Amino acid sequence: MRLLSTLCGLASLVTLSTSTIFQNGQERETHFIDTRVAPITANSTGWKTYGPNATELAYKGRWDSKHVSWWAAPGLKFGFEGQNVAITFGNLTSQGVLVAYRLGGLDWHMSNVTAGATHQFVSPSTPGLNLTQPWQFPLTFELRVTNWAYGVQIAAVHLSTSSKLIKIPPYSKTIEFIGDSLTSGYSATYEAFSGFGYNIGAGFGNVEFSITAYPGICLHDADCWGNPRGQEYQWHRTPDTSPRAYQIWGAADPPKWDFAAHPPADIVIINIGTNDNNTANGAEPPVTRDQYLRSYLDFIPEVHAVYPKAQIVLMSLWNGFSAVGNSFVQTGAYTDEVYAVYKAFESDGYVHYFNSTGILQHNDIGPQWHPTDVGHVKIASHVMQYIRLKFGWEFAATGPEVQHETLYWNDEVRY
Ligand SMILES: *[C@@H]1O[C@H](CO)[C@@H](O)[C@H](O)[C@H]1NC(C)=O
Ligand SMILES: *[C@@H]1O[C@H](CO)[C@@H](O)[C@H](O)[C@H]1NC(C)=O
Ligand SMILES: *[C@@H]1O[C@H](CO)[C@@H](O)[C@H](O)[C@H]1NC(C)=O
Ligand SMILES: *[C@@H]1O[C@H](CO)[C@@H](O)[C@H](O)[C@H]1NC(C)=O
Ligand SMILES: *[C@@H]1O[C@H](CO)[C@@H](O)[C@H](O)[C@H]1NC(C)=O
Ligand SMILES: *[C@@H]1O[C@H](CO)[C@@H](O)[C@H](O)[C@H]1NC(C)=O
Ligand SMILES: *[C@@H]1O[C@H](CO)[C@@H](O)[C@H](O)[C@H]1NC(C)=O
Repeated sequence: MRLLSTLCGLASLVTLSTSTIFQNGQERETHFIDTRVAPITANSTGWKTYGPNATELAYKGRWDSKHVSWWAAPGLKFGFEGQNVAITFGNLTSQGVLVAYRLGGLDWHMSNVTAGATHQFVSPSTPGLNLTQPWQFPLTFELRVTNWAYGVQIAAVHLSTSSKLIKIPPYSKTIEFIGDSLTSGYSATYEAFSGFGYNIGAGFGNVEFSITAYPGICLHDADCWGNPRGQEYQWHRTPDTSPRAYQIWGAADPPKWDFAAHPPADIVIINIGTNDNNTANGAEPPVTRDQYLRSYLDFIPEVHAVYPKAQIVLMSLWNGFSAVGNSFVQTGAYTDEVYAVYKAFESDGYVHYFNSTGILQHNDIGPQWHPTDVGHVKIASHVMQYIRLKFGWEFAATGPEVQHETLYWNDEVRY
């Protein structure tokens, strides 16, 4: 049996920020918008400035007390009056980080933003702005950091003079994802923004979601692929395990995430262990099957303690695919252990098993050993339907795009 795939996420090697998107080794055609404008200060005419702690600003996912974003695809959402929105990004913004932003239910746009600079995302010439129907007010603006390692710092939000920010209340349901590179969209086209975590959370259209996932991380508290801590430790913390997290907050005692200050999760989706299972992850000594199992058995009650009303869904791990004879088989990772964790809590009623086998095939995995965009969409679609059937959550995204730039079509219909 030839092992074709070994999963990794060499997070510590990724330090350069470029905005070139590759597709099958070719540079992908992109339409990033240059949104940078001259600095807007308190004296700039025509503008009104809000600080990052304005109560109308809703931060999605994990952000710290300096208004720096962490983990995968964190977001910012607010309503506004007028026809202008600009944001000043603080110095703790990763240089050139690619953000997605949209007005109302229009398609997402992409722009790379700069530390210490001001970017204008909405102006009177923004397509669609003038088409807003009376029932579509207040106008909403949303921004998502597309990456998992890079982040932004919100320093200020600027609107037209004599207009104001409007608080958009959160949706009543919340999903939390706990994972690694798979959930955070490593090597997907737009990374976290193309990953199944984002696709599920945004796919429902009426739920809040937080993607506490980072490439290479283990569940067991070991140094895996350069991530100094495992999820059983890091999930309790605000920052992730990126190099910038250690620069900004140090290694000793990063701030704890204040679970009580945020709406509790109704559903927690856990996909973790693929890195624990990989003896090449660099952990010294390697994580053993028994350590993984014990960590998982300990972790479930920790999640339950924080979110006592949450349904916790354990995803089985596909790991990769091997060529066997004239076909392929899924390798799987810790298949028995994940199922054993489910069985250990089954009678408590709040832990569920999501069998991922059969959703992905070998050609849904890209050369970086992670799902392709198609693979992510398949996983997300199945998990969403599972949640709908199991917990009765209906789909509320019924038009506006969720997966950006996935419009592939055949215009040579008679080949
Ligand atoms: C704003 O204008 C005042 C008065 O002219 C000046 O003292 C102040 O330095 C200016 N502030 C900024 C941020 O430019
Ligand atoms: C925001 O921060 C400023 C300066 O730190 C402070 O004066 C203000 O009261 C804060 N506003 C809110 C809504 O917390
Ligand atoms: C960035 O840092 C410089 C130098 O410390 C400071 O002057 C500037 O105000 C900072 N800008 C922002 C947006 O935080
Ligand atoms: C991204 O930002 C960098 C730095 O501002 C700039 O040089 C580059 O052209 C931008 N790339 C795209 C695709 O917009
Ligand atoms: C929207 O309306 C404003 C004011 O009437 C106008 O200046 C602007 O060009 C319009 N924008 C678009 C995209 O049509
Ligand atoms: C990884 O998981 C597979 C499938 O459950 C198992 O056979 C294998 O022993 C595990 N590897 C390690 C290093 O624990
Ligand atoms: C998961 O699904 C696969 C494929 O249908 C099946 O072979 C396997 O038995 C299932 N695992 C569990 C624990 O039900």
